[in-house]
Parts: sequence; structure tokens; C-alpha cells
Amino acid sequence: MDESSLNAYKQLFHALSLIPISHYVLAFTLIWALFLYNFLEIHFFQDLFCALRSAPVALTFHPSSHIYHGVVSKCRILHGSYFATPWLSSPHFQTAFLNFFGNPPVFSYKRQLFHASDGGTIALDWLTSSDVSRGTFEMNDAVSKDDTTPLVVVIPGLTSDSTSAYIKHLAFGMAKRGWNVVISNHRGLGGVSITSDCFYNAGWTEDIRIVIDYLHHHYPKAPLFAVGTSIGANILVKYLGEDREKVPVAGALAICSPWDLLIGDRFICRRLVQKLYDRAIAIGLQGYAKLHEPRYSRLANWEGIKKSCSIRDFDNSATCLVGKFETVDTYYRHCSSSSYVQNVSVPLLCISALDDPICTREAIPWDECRANKNIVLATPQHGGHLAFFEGITASSLWQRILNCSCQWDHLLIRVRT
Ligand SMILES: *[C@@H]1O[C@H](CO)[C@@H](O)[C@H](O)[C@H]1NC(C)=O
Ligand SMILES: *[C@@H]1O[C@H](CO)[C@@H](O)[C@H](O)[C@H]1NC(C)=O
Repeated sequence: MDESSLNAYKQLFHALSLIPISHYVLAFTLIWALFLYNFLEIHFFQDLFCALRSAPVALTFHPSSHIYHGVVSKCRILHGSYFATPWLSSPHFQTAFLNFFGNPPVFSYKRQLFHASDGGTIALDWLTSSDVSRGTFEMNDAVSKDDTTPLVVVIPGLTSDSTSAYIKHLAFGMAKRGWNVVISNHRGLGGVSITSDCFYNAGWTEDIRIVIDYLHHHYPKAPLFAVGTSIGANILVKYLGEDREKVPVAGALAICSPWDLLIGDRFICRRLVQKLYDRAIAIGLQGYAKLHEPRYSRLANWEGIKKSCSIRDFDNSATCLVGKFETVDTYYRHCSSSSYVQNVSVPLLCISALDDPICTREAIPWDECRANKNIVLATPQHGGHLAFFEGITASSLWQRILNCSCQWDHLLIRVRT
């Protein structure tokens, strides 16, 4: 390096050293804030801007869909816009807040143990509309055979059961709006043991099939509806596509479905934030396995389960062995509900937040939903995974979705009768 260029560097360094340290701190803080704003996908300023020109919830449906023209066009709530709680204006804040401060309503269910023909046990948890209106849960009412109150079956997400905050909000909100609710817990969840060698997985539709058939035969006068959340939504849509016209439900609702498990798997190991969810869900799965350790150590690879750091690891060591899938990708391909969307033959409303950090928008089967006259797909811009907090106090979790599904169900009943 020659003398003059060395001088130039010296002068530059001298000039830089004249800038007060506080300015460096300020610049660094700004860059860090900008990084966090992007990393956490915060949309506070976008929302401020949007509030001036409101963006409605996008709806996707077949142009000549009778469901849309008969029902959804009259569903006022679906035509509004959704504004996330300002201090939860990030899908990650929304999802984390739900998991740590879900604030579930206080009530108790009435438990019914349902036995499958393979020896498996399913815990059905009931909450009737009269339990909620009376406000006492010590002696929950049983539903009579001739009851005409609409009945809603709820299928929880992966490792969730009837005690999860969002399920309790959903059940309580539905019962308050005059519905009888029954949560169909997955096998081995809700505090019951696994009583056969059969476990549930993301594509296991047999349990919901027998539960829905049982409810249909036992309460023939009650219009029957089904709501699936997350993995429960995947199971529900797959079941609807498998059984088509044979499904005895008047309408169904799929909330935050993963749709395509293979795309979901690729998505969840791509970025650092998603890897944290992957790890958290894997810990949940290990907790589930731990509850049923004797059976898992006999049927699966217990060492592998203990070492699992991701959903994929767990599926490799447990789900594939128990469910007899050759590889993890085979399992994901086989159990994705997106390939069943075209065959759904009952009215189905799907709600998927575009910023869902777990069930990515990349997997949403837009074309298939648009091609099926029975389906309406609502895609709010924000809401995170199953969170949908809105209002300044973040208290109205699910209010809108509950109102909307009740309105949707009432309108469907009216259309059918
Ligand atoms: C959907 O229905 C079509 C036509 O009957 C059939 O060919 C296809 O295999 C079905 N898809 C699934 C995933 O079952
Ligand atoms: C939902 O319905 C309840 C009463 O059923 C009402 O108080 C509330 O304002 C509604 N919320 C929304 C967001 O429409």
C-alpha cells in the first residue's frame, strides 16, 4: 500500500473517531430493532397503515358455489376485516401468547369413554349448552336421544386435548351460543391409557369416523357439525374426502390445517424461528410418548424417541414404526389432506391465517378449494397458529371465528330444512 492511500485510511479513522459513541449506540440499536422487526415478522406499522384502508379477509370459492351464494355471502362476519391486537402484531407473539397466557374459561366436562372395535379407548368430553347456561358443572346434563340442539364434534390438534386453552375457549364459546359440544380426544390423550397397539397420527381418520357414526345414530335429531383444528383439521378434511356423501354431518370447519405435511416438513426446518417451533412440538410429542412408554418401547424405537429433536425425528422413530409407513416422506404424502380436498362433498369452511408460523400458507390448496363447490376458504392476513387475538385487551380470542361458525352452521341448517 502506498503512502497516500495509507494517509487516506488514517484520516478516515480519525474522522470516525470524532463521531460520539452515543451515535454508534443509536445506529446499532436501530439496526438491531429493524432486524428484530423483520425476524419476528412484526406488522405493527403495516397495520397502522392498513387501518386507514381496511383489507378484508380474503375468500376463495368456486364462482357458482351454492355454499357461497346461499350461506357465506350472508355471513356478515366473514366480510369484515381482522385486526390483530396491536401489541401482539406478530404471528409469533400471537402464538406464544396463546400458549403461555391462553386464559381458558373455567368449567368441567362430562367424560364418556368410547371403545373402538380394536380395543382402543377414546375419551369423549361433553359440554352441553344447558351446562353453560346454568353455570354449574358438578352434575353436567346428559344429552337426550331426541334432543334437537345442534351438536358439534371438535377434533383437537397434535398433542392437544380437551384441556388445551384454545379447545376450552372453542367449547365454551360454542356451548354459550346454544350448541352441545363434544371433544373427541385423540387416543392416549385426555388422561386415558392406550389400550390397543393402535395410535393416532396425522392421517388417522378411523376414530373420527366411528365417533361421528356413533353420534349420528345416537342423536339422530341433532344436526351434526365437525370442527378440526391444526392436525385435527387435516384429519377432518381427509375423512370428508374419503367418505364423501356418506359423511353424516351438515357442515364442517377446518381451522389452521397443515394441508400438506411434506411442504410443512420442509418449511419447519428452513428458518431459525420455525426450528424453535419444531423443537417445541417435538418436546410435546416426547411428553406424549413418555405417557405410553411401555407400549412405545415395545412397538417403536425408544432410544430414537428420547433423542428426537424435531417432529421428523419423532415420526422416524415412532409414528412410522407404529403406523407401518416405510419412510417419513411416505407417511407425510399418504396423510396430507390436500389430495382429498377435491372429493369433499359436504359444506366445508376453511380458515387459515396467512402468517401461520407452523402451518405454512405455502401448503394451502388454493386451486383445489376454488374447484370444489362445497368449499369456502377464508384467509385472514394475520392471526398466527390458532391464536387470532384481536381488540386492545386481546380478550376476544376466537370471538369472530365462533360467531362466524355459529352463523355459518345456522345458515346451513336453514338451507337444508
Ligand atoms: C377422488 O375422486 C376421484 C374420482 O372419483 C378418484 O379418482 C380419486 O382417487 C379420489 N381421490 C382420493 C384422494 O381419494
Ligand atoms: C360475537 O357475538 C357476541 C354475542 O353472541 C357479541 O357480543 C360479539 O360482539 C360478537 N363479536 C364479533 C367480533 O362479532
